[in-house]
Amino acid sequence: MAAIGFILLTYLVASFPFGLLVALVGCGIDPRRAGSLNTGATNVARLCGTRLGVLTLLLDLAKGLVPVLCARAMTDSVVFVSLVLVAAVVGHMFSVFLYGRGGKGVATAIGVFLAAAPAVALLAVAACVAVIRVSGYVSAGSLVLAVAVPVLCAFLGQPALVPAGVVVAGLIIYKHRDNIARLRAGQEKSWRKSPAPAA
Ligand code: G3P
Repeated sequence: MAAIGFILLTYLVASFPFGLLVALVGCGIDPRRAGSLNTGATNVARLCGTRLGVLTLLLDLAKGLVPVLCARAMTDSVVFVSLVLVAAVVGHMFSVFLYGRGGKGVATAIGVFLAAAPAVALLAVAACVAVIRVSGYVSAGSLVLAVAVPVLCAFLGQPALVPAGVVVAGLIIYKHRDNIARLRAGQEKSWRKSPAPAA
């Protein structure tokens, strides 16, 4: 019962839409109605500037990091840690406070895997950053990160985390379906060409 309660609590905490709060308070813009319509760090940075984007990134990352660190402190069960991990990402993506809508899960996924398998998270982030730098597309980097996570889990001695990695990767790819369509059509916005943020 306590385990189920903690998983539900994780979902609830991760549902909190930090990006929406940061953008509304920080620059008076509702990210659900501007830019990519996403409440994540990329859109907050696009609309409100890099500093508020980084703040959103850190807060969304913490929503994943903290519950999984707690789960690992509570038990050695990889199944429980995997369920908490997925609950955090699902909470961010399908927020109870946003009527089932939410972000695309990348920052929270980084947080959960930093807590569960730090080497996996760091290498996946390195691959993500490299792709963003070369391509100019944050979404392309995010998709590479998503695919890299379960693959790295398999190759870096974390096979028990592969199922959770596959679920998280699938959810991130699903949430990026519009980005994928834009990338394929050559219409995705490069971060290099982002308009100046609102004052
Ligand atoms: O992590 C989200 C990023 O990959 C894409 O964000 O706002 O350009 O759809 P956005």
